[in-house]
Amino acid sequence: MKDTKIKNLLAAEKKRQKKVVNLIASENYVSDDVLKALGSETTNKYAEGYPGKRYYAGNVIVDQIETLAQERALTLFKLNPKKWGVNVQPLSGSPANIAVYQALITPGAKIMGMDLAQGGHLTHGHNVSFSGKFWKQVPYTLDKKTEKLDYDALLTLAKKEKPAIIVAGYTAYSRKISWKKMREIADTVGAYLLVDMSHIAGLVAGGEHPAPFKYAHVVTTTTHKTLRGPRGGMIFAPKDVFIERTLKNGTLKKESIFDLIQKSVFPGMQGGPHINQIAGIAVALKEANTASFKKYAGQVVKNTKTLANELKKLGWRIISGGTDNHVFLMDVWNDGKGLTGKEASDILEAAGIIVNMNTIPYDARSPFNPSGIRIGCAAETTRGKKEKDMLQLARQIDKILRK
Ligand SMILES: Cc1ncc(COP(=O)(O)O)c(C=O)c1O
Repeated sequence: MKDTKIKNLLAAEKKRQKKVVNLIASENYVSDDVLKALGSETTNKYAEGYPGKRYYAGNVIVDQIETLAQERALTLFKLNPKKWGVNVQPLSGSPANIAVYQALITPGAKIMGMDLAQGGHLTHGHNVSFSGKFWKQVPYTLDKKTEKLDYDALLTLAKKEKPAIIVAGYTAYSRKISWKKMREIADTVGAYLLVDMSHIAGLVAGGEHPAPFKYAHVVTTTTHKTLRGPRGGMIFAPKDVFIERTLKNGTLKKESIFDLIQKSVFPGMQGGPHINQIAGIAVALKEANTASFKKYAGQVVKNTKTLANELKKLGWRIISGGTDNHVFLMDVWNDGKGLTGKEASDILEAAGIIVNMNTIPYDARSPFNPSGIRIGCAAETTRGKKEKDMLQLARQIDKILRK
């Protein structure tokens, strides 16, 4: 590389990544093949449109790449291509969610999403995000005592607020989610159910979390967390569920949810797709459809449970008492007797352990210096860590935080 400044910075970041213990729940390490796809000549190509329907010439090869990514996505999640379609063009998870709202609900309609401070994502209707400016969030919370989802309370809230769409799937929630119960709530009030499986997509692929497709009207995901692909987003939607709408000229138009999603992504909100990213996603989807990835997903859950349980034994409060997936929240503030989340995160970083500060349910502190830290094991499991390493890591974290 001729640009020595960037060359040195890239080398420094590579070194940093190698040196630290990475417990950021939303990060992972992609394979060399995924990196090669990302750094390929496909980044040079403009390809507005979809395979077979492009606005630019020269897309014969690109069409094959995008089609392969679509096929692999449907195969990985065991979806019948006659019934389901997938859009692999969203630039990331946030635009994928916005594209769904744009496709399915009218401006100003209500989005019932988990409160950001309790584990939801910004794009689930929070007012600092486009999703909360253009639509109106009905925030839901966890049960104060169990710190888990309370489906009865969700039903009561949905009946009161009558949202147009309910979002399930979170940024900092460590328990299994009942898609069935979420769909029942959505059906009771005539809302769509959007499952955002961004965090757990790799666990769904590996059979470690129930798949949402039987119950969701539409499913979004990022491709770069537990799924271990490049940064990106995907939207899965049914081809055989139709929505009828009256157009401005008074005529009725019936379209499938998948067709509405396609239009919403392009031309609705994006221009040319990032083909290098789509090529990287295709590679990652193939990797995720292997016995070794299934084993990996199982190991992620085993490692996370081991780390959470050991920290609990060492006296730390784990939110909801434990974890079923790749992530958990730890209360480091302990009613003022401990550290703030920021202090804990800084102290750990100085010792080479990277976590992120995080609010805990019903946090009395601010999101800028909350009571907790979020810990995830997807990245370290990719690097080969096992349960015995997690036991050691728990003792190390405990020692650093108690110094
Ligand atoms: C549940 C959930 N949805 C969507 C997103 C957004 O993804 P991105 O950062 O790729 O826009 C995230 C990111 O953390 C997330 O946790």
